[in-house]
Amino acid sequence: MAPFVARFPTRIIFGLGEVARLPGEARALGRRALLVTGRATARRHGYLDLVRQMLAAQGVEATVFGGVEENPTVATVNRGAVAAGDCHAEMVIALGGGSAMDAAKAVAVAALAKRETIWTFVRRDRKDSPRRAEHALPIICVPTLAGSGSEANEVAVVSNPETREKLAFRAECMFPRVAVVDPDFTCSASAPQTAWGAFDIVSHALETYLSGTEYTPLQDRFSEAIVRTVRDHLQKAIDSPLDKPARAALSWCSTAALGGVLAGRRGTYPIHWIEHALSAHYPALQHGRGIAMLLPHVMAFTAQKAPAKCAQLAREVFGVPRDGAADADAAAAGLKAFIAWQKETGAREGLTEAGVSAEALDRIADDVLRLHGVPIAPDAGDRGERLLPNSRPIDRAGLKSILQAALAG
Ligand SMILES: [Fe+2]
Repeated sequence: MAPFVARFPTRIIFGLGEVARLPGEARALGRRALLVTGRATARRHGYLDLVRQMLAAQGVEATVFGGVEENPTVATVNRGAVAAGDCHAEMVIALGGGSAMDAAKAVAVAALAKRETIWTFVRRDRKDSPRRAEHALPIICVPTLAGSGSEANEVAVVSNPETREKLAFRAECMFPRVAVVDPDFTCSASAPQTAWGAFDIVSHALETYLSGTEYTPLQDRFSEAIVRTVRDHLQKAIDSPLDKPARAALSWCSTAALGGVLAGRRGTYPIHWIEHALSAHYPALQHGRGIAMLLPHVMAFTAQKAPAKCAQLAREVFGVPRDGAADADAAAAGLKAFIAWQKETGAREGLTEAGVSAEALDRIADDVLRLHGVPIAPDAGDRGERLLPNSRPIDRAGLKSILQAALAG
């Protein structure tokens, strides 16, 4: 197991109806809040009005910063920081999915950065390292979708349309003070949103499970339990959107998967890295949808040469018998079951269905390796060939084969 420091500073208030506790939590942080939300969901389903009224009743004035797009941009975050200054916000409250929460976390940093663009803290330029974010306004997250898990960690993802880069950055100060996870607020998610969010959770549970090589028995059980729990409840939430126990199960999986319990693996995030490059080029692509499209193809590529973990997943989660069959065969059977599950949920699609063209794949592969690859020959410098660390390392040819396979679905 790799060494790690575990820290869980976010107070998580979880449960149906528990949003009633938001105003008291906010009041303890101040009287003025910037309320960051997305384009439609929170407004359309009445969550925004409800939250504003509840906050006002407790003496907290909330200024709405709405319209945060899928894949929030540098410009949006910088505008949010100005809005926070204009209303003298003492805290930033996110109400929405991963985009709203990530934007809110980044706004909380930018608001205290004295007019410095948020990109200063995010960029990955080999000649000019990013500035470390040390300070942020206090953050409260109220998720309206089970998926990103952004509500209880210190990571935010920001896109820069000028450079066509979408990058995650992390800072201790971005740990939300409080996450109010009320599964009631996720009941309005459509069937596709619910499924895409669920496969985002699955990828959070599986990325380091599949890419790492350490012996991490407890973390493996956590990952397997998260995927099993998602599998047991996703269809229920799709068939009956108001199935509260199913929504609650998915919500807790979402918060837990990126909440720190999987620490101790040196594994990497190749599925997320590829998705980030994809949606940097296609900003309308929903994160979880891109992840769902890529997941089985990265799994298949990995299993061809490093089948052990895919075989373990197949046996522990997908009911593939422990009958002494070779790992490669068990992994193939597990992958078949995984794809069948995706089809049942409506989340099995090809990249072409999201408008991705074959001509873009070279540029996307270049970006993934430039931003996340490591040199094959350490002394080759910037010009050397790079690969993505993985239990089966992903070189440029491998990356192209994954993208091409994902194109067709
Ligand atoms: Fe994700």
